[in-house]
Amino acid sequence: MYLKLRIRREDREKGVRYETYHVKYEEGMTFLEALQRIKEEQDPTLTFRHFCRAGICGTCTIYINGYPKLACKEQVLPYVITQREVIVEPLKNFRVIKDLAVDIDPAIRKLRDIGAWIEERKEEPRIEQERSRKIEEASDCILCFACQSYCPQTLEERYAGPLFFAKIFRFLMDPRDRKPQLRLKQAVEEGYLYHCLSCNKCNNVCPKEVQPATLIRELMIYNTEA
Ligand code: SF4
Ligand code: SF4
Ligand code: FES
Repeated sequence: MYLKLRIRREDREKGVRYETYHVKYEEGMTFLEALQRIKEEQDPTLTFRHFCRAGICGTCTIYINGYPKLACKEQVLPYVITQREVIVEPLKNFRVIKDLAVDIDPAIRKLRDIGAWIEERKEEPRIEQERSRKIEEASDCILCFACQSYCPQTLEERYAGPLFFAKIFRFLMDPRDRKPQLRLKQAVEEGYLYHCLSCNKCNNVCPKEVQPATLIRELMIYNTEA
């Protein structure tokens, strides 16, 4: 069995185009392995990112038939069986550096700007079990940017986006953080929290079940009660 991939390529010399590759299917093959096979055997110029190969680092996210997926986790088999060809593209709403590699620096800078880390209080507060569970779930985010890329509302520049709301929620829930008012301001005033469409698209594509749309709704409730 062969997997037929139509891959969106982009570089300065040739611009944008779609190129077709055939990869022989092997048992257990993932999309990352298929891309590596192409790079090794057919086209060494094909560019894509990966690191852990285990769904942990979040660097290998690509679009497969229009949906963001972790290339190292997505199995090729269902596609080989059901699809004549599979479209592979880079993350949407991010600037393409080359082929499937996009520029995540602006998003990383934005995380730095909101202070995506705990500003510890002097005293050590007790964390209730329910809070602890919420913090843990929101902390599972691996910065894969799938939600941020797939959210239709991020086309609105001032809208922070699901990834940032998930991060803000994580710190707002943590009683060790001494800036809860700032976190709310970052979400509501600076991030335009209420512009969320509640479409749940971010929940559907998150590979780690962080459920950003659900956290956004919790942020809204928290804001009305604050
Ligand atoms: S629920 Fe809100 S944040 Fe999530 S994809 Fe829809 S608009 Fe974006
Ligand atoms: S919330 Fe989920 S989809 Fe969004 S960046 Fe984190 S892990 Fe990826
Ligand atoms: S290579 Fe790390 S998540 Fe895919």
